[in-house]
Amino acid sequence: MKILGIESSCDETAASVVTGERAILSNVILSQHAAHQPYGGVVPEIAARSHIEHMDDIVARALGTAGLAWGDIDAVAATTGPGLIGGVIVGTMTGKALASVLGKPFIAVNHLEGHALTARLTDATQFPYLLLLVSGGHCQILAVEGVGRYRKLGNTLDDALGEAFDKTAKMLGLGYPGGPAVEAQARGGNAKRFAFPLPLKGREGCDFSFSGLKTAVRLSVREVALDGVVAAQDVADICASFQYTIGEVVKDRMRHAFQAYGMHYASKTLVVAGGVAANQYLRSCLESVAGEYGFTLIAPPMSLCTDNAAMIAWVGVERLRLGLTDTLDAEPRARWPLV
Ligand code: KG4
Ligand code: ZN
Repeated sequence: MKILGIESSCDETAASVVTGERAILSNVILSQHAAHQPYGGVVPEIAARSHIEHMDDIVARALGTAGLAWGDIDAVAATTGPGLIGGVIVGTMTGKALASVLGKPFIAVNHLEGHALTARLTDATQFPYLLLLVSGGHCQILAVEGVGRYRKLGNTLDDALGEAFDKTAKMLGLGYPGGPAVEAQARGGNAKRFAFPLPLKGREGCDFSFSGLKTAVRLSVREVALDGVVAAQDVADICASFQYTIGEVVKDRMRHAFQAYGMHYASKTLVVAGGVAANQYLRSCLESVAGEYGFTLIAPPMSLCTDNAAMIAWVGVERLRLGLTDTLDAEPRARWPLV
């Protein structure tokens, strides 16, 4: 089985071919980061135009790199949400057009399911598993029971974790996307210099909140800035203290999650997914807290944590196997919660 996957829900135009045997035959990604960088965040109109301009070429390259002809493709899977609607429409329409012309099934993929099932592509992880899904737009703890079967254990009450990284980066003038920049700065900083609040620490349940932390970071930036300029060591110290705090918050929330999950499921697998899962410090925190509860951490390679089309093609594999295909009426959706 060979599935073509298409992803365009944010600022990556991506296409990939993945097989039913978990082989990634191609994984082409065109990042628009440079185009959005001057604005400090993704500009939806610029993103949509760029997707239109590049999509055909990216899809052709995915097919070419895989060494395949159109007739070799068994189904076309495209992200139909959630995301920036202009980009989602481009990917959805491209996927539908290809499926229609090729006479092959179309699979409408939820981008979050792409992140959620990546560990099955990379590590053949068995259901059920506990999932920490942390991206630019989402921050959730879920029990993954099967394809399309999720139970929500926790959610963010305000910002997503990636958003918290991006906003911190913006306050410090580190550009977009902020996560990798904050992580790099944190390596040279003193994590103990700023004692930021630990939102919801000790509170029952598995929900997250990052707005208090954001305010604390803003106040610290103001405090150390001289004529609006923050010295290099101050930037590093704020990033290190911020990232340390995030680690503590995530460990605290996960302790609750292991207990809540353990009441219903016997499996001891924790998967981390989404762009923020690329963060090495967060991975090490998860590794240690998972160990406390006898869980094994599965973290996909960094390149498959951030947005890509291999994860979308893989959802296509999983869904086609179950006969879960879609009609050409499937609609692009800006909002589409997993549960
Ligand atoms: O999954 P993703 O690529 O796109 C969405 O679906 O949102 O996640 C992007 C988010 C951004 O907020 C970005 O700053 C964050 O993931 N991110 C990171 C790192 N790499 C990407 N956050 C922290 N550390 C990183 N190394
Ligand atoms: Zn994503």
